[in-house]
Amino acid sequence: MSVIAITFIISTIFAASQAMAQDNKSLNLYSSRHYQTDEALYANFTRHTGIRINRLEASEDALIERIRNEGARSPADVLVTVDAGRLWRAEQLGFFQPVQSPLLEARIPENYREPNGLWFGFSLRTRLIAYHKAKVQAAELPTYESLVDPQWKGRICMRSSTSIYNLSLMGAMISHLGEAAAEQWAQGVKANLARDPKGGDTDQLKSVAAGECDLTVTNQYYYARLARSGKPEEREIAQKVGVLLPNQASWGAHVNISGAGVMKHAPNREAAVKFLEYLASDQAQRYFAEGNNEWPVVVGLKIDNPVLAALGAFKQDSLNVAVLGRNQPAAQKIYDRVDWK
Ligand SMILES: [Fe+2]
Repeated sequence: MSVIAITFIISTIFAASQAMAQDNKSLNLYSSRHYQTDEALYANFTRHTGIRINRLEASEDALIERIRNEGARSPADVLVTVDAGRLWRAEQLGFFQPVQSPLLEARIPENYREPNGLWFGFSLRTRLIAYHKAKVQAAELPTYESLVDPQWKGRICMRSSTSIYNLSLMGAMISHLGEAAAEQWAQGVKANLARDPKGGDTDQLKSVAAGECDLTVTNQYYYARLARSGKPEEREIAQKVGVLLPNQASWGAHVNISGAGVMKHAPNREAAVKFLEYLASDQAQRYFAEGNNEWPVVVGLKIDNPVLAALGAFKQDSLNVAVLGRNQPAAQKIYDRVDWK
């Protein structure tokens, strides 16, 4: 089926749901998460609550464009997306309304939700340093800052500075080091690159395993996905690569979220809040961890995931993720100034 046909069908479903009473028996979900395991997550919500989910999945940019065009008539109840930087962009466009939920406030640590309740983090991802096991010792790389050491000249692979993951990492660096030192860091890493930035996180891991470079930075779930793959060739990539949690003796590993907020014009507000509360339930939290290799945002929950277990408990950056959003423009300027690409 073509994309146009799928879009048409989804639009038709929305038109139908809009025509129905706004009775909170259904929920219109706009999502830029694209993980297969999320299917089970949504199905379970419907099983528990009887609330049917009409889902529109598209890229972040396409969703934002659509929501802008729909304006006050948007049928969207909830926007789900990854990275605090993207949630911040949606917040800046005035998409969200504040939610006060004692349950969400109790379940989600304060630094993983927007201070006014405009959006909430539901799962955690951290940028690990990944290295070729035969060529690098983990102890040589205690921090993100150590990537600028001249010994890594020509040995680092990185993705582009337009990647929201790198923008948010820079947002954290700015907050901890100040803009001048953060720019020096970007310059130092750029000077150590083995090649121009390109590809996604998985591509960086493949490049390290293939010997094109010795080091990179990746979100943990890309590594875990390879390590837990059913394909031997993917497991082989993970076997060649070691990963470490940086900055354990300083500000902690950079942590970002996947999250969601209730839309300003949500026709089914009550259902939308129920959905957010469901995402913070033990069951939904386990889906994130076991299905997509993300850490639960809820503290102390036991999860079954051998790769995350092997990484162990770690010191997380305590910065409120909303700061990563606020620092996006400054982060982009720094990457541009050093011509990171
Ligand atoms: Fe990702």
